[in-house]
Amino acid sequence: MSLAFPVVDHPSPALAAAIEERLADPGFGRYFTDHMALATWHQGSGWGEDSTGPYTPFAVDPAGAVLHYAQEVFEGLKAYRHSDGSVWLFRPEMNARRLIRSAERLGLPTLPEEDFLTSVRSVVTADQRWVPNGEGEKSLYLRPFMFADENFLGVRSAERVRYAVIASPVGPYFPSGVKPVDIWVTTTYSRAGTGGTGAAKCGGNYASSLVAQKEAYEHGCGQVLFTDAATHTWLEELGGMNIFLVTGEGKLLTPPTSGTILDGITRDSILTIAPELGLGAEVRPVALDELVDGVASGRIVEAFACGTAAVVTPIGRFHQEGADPLFLTQQQGTATMAIRNRLLDIQYGRGDDAYGWRHRVC
Ligand SMILES: Cc1ncc(COP(=O)(O)O)c(C=O)c1O
Repeated sequence: MSLAFPVVDHPSPALAAAIEERLADPGFGRYFTDHMALATWHQGSGWGEDSTGPYTPFAVDPAGAVLHYAQEVFEGLKAYRHSDGSVWLFRPEMNARRLIRSAERLGLPTLPEEDFLTSVRSVVTADQRWVPNGEGEKSLYLRPFMFADENFLGVRSAERVRYAVIASPVGPYFPSGVKPVDIWVTTTYSRAGTGGTGAAKCGGNYASSLVAQKEAYEHGCGQVLFTDAATHTWLEELGGMNIFLVTGEGKLLTPPTSGTILDGITRDSILTIAPELGLGAEVRPVALDELVDGVASGRIVEAFACGTAAVVTPIGRFHQEGADPLFLTQQQGTATMAIRNRLLDIQYGRGDDAYGWRHRVC
């Protein structure tokens, strides 16, 4: 039977003035709304106990399995307010399907696509006051997640699992907005190996990327670029985004999502809209040498990071240990900005939605 996530209203929701103050300068992931969706899965009986109620801390037992074995997966999507006040999701069914794939990889139960969509809609509807207007690229970031909620020591899949959706009003992911981000290329650390969890959106992937991200910050860079774990010669993805290179002839290049890279919904959307912008697109392995030689010779003129949080953010330069920084010739390139604007226009309802990607919530 489908879950309904019935709403239990918060007894003392945030005052309108407090919401207004937070929406004026939300930052990213700093403030949380009044409600959250919850459901619990039990081995044998499946999903139930679903509701959308007041945002409340969890009581975590010290033997809680997720603390020890990291059996956890999550998603990230946004609700956008259009100029007429309506609120919309962007391709949420893609997030639902990816959560299913991630859960399967982590030995967690799967949440049906329909239940995922109901949970997300329920939180957005209950907390619609928290959806900022689209100015300054603000939106309501939604974080569905699922974790082992059983108390035991021993390595096995949990028999009780919790699913939740929380929401946070956000501005641009990089505080500098659309200014180019600098990238640190690591050939020391790996994000994922063949047969590992790289294609799943699980907390462990991010935990293992933090030391490389710290190295990036220490070198004045905003993001880290990982190469393949086996040879460190092929580009994979950034710590929290996919990557595209753009050639002087206007062709997009991005590595395939062959098991070690997260199958980004933004990446997929860009590959879909590229032809309408007159851009070719090639999905194929891209060697680190090709990036270095291509930027140095001027064959690669633009590069950008993409993801739900960062949308499309231009890359300014690549840094590598012991090498001179590589500057892209186009810092806010024509192709990068055309893709960025087209995507934002679809998300915020300013452009036509030829692909049926927008879903109205309220
Ligand atoms: C590691 C990683 N790669 C890529 C992406 C981009 O995925 P999406 O476009 O679905 O947000 C994300 C963002 O969630 C990510 O964390």
